[in-house]
Amino acid sequence: MTKRTIIITGGAGFIGSHVVRLFVNKYPEYRIINLDKLTYAGNLANLRDVEAMPNYRFVRMDICDFEGVLKLMQEERVDGIIHLAAESHVDRSIHDPFTFARTNVMGTLSLLQSAKIYWESLEEGYEGKRFYHISTDEVYGALEFDDTLFTEQTSYNPHSPYSASKASSDHFVRAYHDTYGMPTIVTNCSNNYGPYQFPEKLIPLFINNIRQRKRLPVYGTGENVRDWLYVEDHARAIDLIFHRGKVADTYNIGGFNEWRNIDLIKVIIATVDRVLGNPEGYSLDLIEYVTDRLGHDARYAIDSTKLSRELGWMPSLQFEEGIERTVRWYIDNEAWLRDIATGDYKRYNENK
Ligand code: NAD
Ligand code: DAU
Repeated sequence: MTKRTIIITGGAGFIGSHVVRLFVNKYPEYRIINLDKLTYAGNLANLRDVEAMPNYRFVRMDICDFEGVLKLMQEERVDGIIHLAAESHVDRSIHDPFTFARTNVMGTLSLLQSAKIYWESLEEGYEGKRFYHISTDEVYGALEFDDTLFTEQTSYNPHSPYSASKASSDHFVRAYHDTYGMPTIVTNCSNNYGPYQFPEKLIPLFINNIRQRKRLPVYGTGENVRDWLYVEDHARAIDLIFHRGKVADTYNIGGFNEWRNIDLIKVIIATVDRVLGNPEGYSLDLIEYVTDRLGHDARYAIDSTKLSRELGWMPSLQFEEGIERTVRWYIDNEAWLRDIATGDYKRYNENK
């Protein structure tokens, strides 16, 4: 049985918490260290079910704390890093780009440099090590409203401060492979949805608003297209790629599941109304078209053929089932949403 010690950054966030849960449960022989600063988006309540597991440790740390990260790597003899920590919300990046550059660019560089110094100090060097960086399809820019897809060969063309910062971090990761020989991997995934997503993002925000009879702000005309993947399918892909992906390679991850925002919103409304026992069409009047997001990318769509062909990954859930599960989860876990609205989740974080 191979023993590994892996730092998962951003493990208290949305996708990170699913990755931590998967690894802690699936690999009892591994030591899983969740390194997270606990920004507004970090919520340790996302991990209540695994926090007492013997192979799990939480460390509150900023990825920009280069010396702290290096010391942790040395003390724990870390041999793998799965890097998800980031500022992730496009709207926030439009108002506060500096925070995005700091965490997404400088933070990634700090992790890379810590890993370089520690791994190069070992007799075996980079042998058996892995630095896996989780990125986004947004680095490729925006597609026209046609049938083209982002492939691994698509040139980077980011538009928002968020995607520009993620693009920059991707380049740094690849540079550490090309310059120093660090065994890196980068994956670019499409929009995720599912339980534990911070309710500032479209799907949880709208489920929550419908429940509370609040308005649903649709940016622009609602015709922008996004490609949606259930978060547990992303976590399964990360597991597969961490263990079997080719070093220095890039994989796109997506479910071939494009939706115009307005059509997706109508599916969410219909599902929430049905689950709550409201009459059909009851919440449609909550839709309100508002000023568009600045620089709003028209369409994202990912071609994940390479991942399916080379590693046999396929999304496991049909979208209808994923949305049903997601809506039921947020309705059943009203307390989780309420704790975020009241700020109580921060008290829970402080007590850990
Ligand atoms: P999230 O905002 O829900 O969580 C981010 C986590 O990172 C939080 O727990 C936060 O506390 C932590 N964090 C932020 N700054 C930090 C710092 N300086 N030091 C340590 N921890 C810090 O994000 P998410 O939606 O789960 O996204 C995770 C990763 O996946 C990001 O890198 C994002 O770019 C990428 N991604 C997200 C999606 C998506 O649809 N959500 C799609 C593709 C890729
Ligand atoms: O594509 C992957 C990316 O998906 C990730 O890299 C990002 O971290 C993640 O936040 C997500 O970015 P988006 O900007 O696509 O997600 P968001 O949920 O913010 O918005 C989805 C779409 O819905 C987008 O076209 C903007 C629109 N929208 C969003 C909100 C919050 C609205 O119309 N109204 C809203 O209130």
